[in-house]
Amino acid sequence: MHDTSFFAGRHVFVAGGTSGINLGIAQAFARAGAHVTVMSRSPDKVRQAAEGLEALGAQALGISADVRDPAAVEAALRQAHGRFGDIDVLISGAAGNFIAPAKDLSPNGFKTVVDIDLNGSFHVLRLAWPMLRKPGASVINISAPQGTNPMRYQVHACAAKAGIDMMTRVLAMEWGEEGVRVNAISPGPIAGTEGMRRLAPSPEALANVVASVPLQRMGTLDDIANVALFLSSPQAGYVTGAVIPVDGGSSLSGGRDMRASYVPRGAG
Ligand code: HXC
Ligand code: NAP
Repeated sequence: MHDTSFFAGRHVFVAGGTSGINLGIAQAFARAGAHVTVMSRSPDKVRQAAEGLEALGAQALGISADVRDPAAVEAALRQAHGRFGDIDVLISGAAGNFIAPAKDLSPNGFKTVVDIDLNGSFHVLRLAWPMLRKPGASVINISAPQGTNPMRYQVHACAAKAGIDMMTRVLAMEWGEEGVRVNAISPGPIAGTEGMRRLAPSPEALANVVASVPLQRMGTLDDIANVALFLSSPQAGYVTGAVIPVDGGSSLSGGRDMRASYVPRGAG
């Protein structure tokens, strides 16, 4: 995307937008002149993220809320709507993950990841619906290769992200009639992120990841943000219901084997 002037003054709401990939997306829209709202649990992360967005020249709003709490999500959306008006771009990227074999995963461990990733994304999208610009809004879910490829020790994340992919397609069908496009980005391994710290915690594991990527490198925050900008631009005006891998080709050969990266809790 060379010309991002389309986004000047538009309202971009990023759920889970205070670190990593989602913050990278928020920053890209801020640089393009958008008004950006970021929402996550930690008040410190929220404050720092909003200050950073303002330092890029954007009008920014940070709100502390947990995507598992529909009332809190609705209040956050209302606050953002009151400040910046209808939402032009909605990004839903809050997630939690860890490596755990299914047989050692407690009911609450499974439920927690599904509640954050899948149920949380439903809350964000559903509760934002009345505040989305119609026609014209772009909704982007942040998925993962786990949504497509089965991976050992990732039953919680695979189930949650597969649900997100299907929700993307169903809502694209329902909301297309009112001119709202719904897509998902499925990032590959992105350098310097919490996700990679958890899923490839050693230099050896990271080297194996890089070797398995056809493009032979980790992705960057900008690799993902550029596709979010494109998907929300008029150039992508006929794209909806797509789950787009942005992964250097890494998902072509199937899912990663997490067994070598697994450290039993309390052992490390
Ligand atoms: C097994 C675990 C566990 C682990 C937590 N649990 N960590 N089980 N192995 N390593 C279990 C707990 O024992 C508990 O069950 C239940 O999960 C809830 O744990 P809490 O700590 O109470 O939950 P909470 O405080 O809500 O924190 C949620 C979290 C945490 C997901 C556990 O890690 C978190 O906040 N993560 C957010 C940041 C993050 O994960 N970023 C990476 C996203 S990357 P019991 O039964 O004991 O009550 C991503 C990867 C995509 O999504 C793919 C990349 C390639
Ligand atoms: P991250 O930095 O941990 O980002 C997660 C964000 O979600 C944070 O802002 C976090 O802030 C927020 N969050 C977590 N739980 C929340 C909750 N219950 N309610 C509200 N906000 C919550 O991780 P990341 O690695 O950049 O991952 C970002 C997204 O990309 C995720 O959807 C992940 O699945 C996806 N992804 C990542 C990779 C990768 O290589 N890293 C690969 C594929 C897909 P708080 O802690 O303040 O809540």
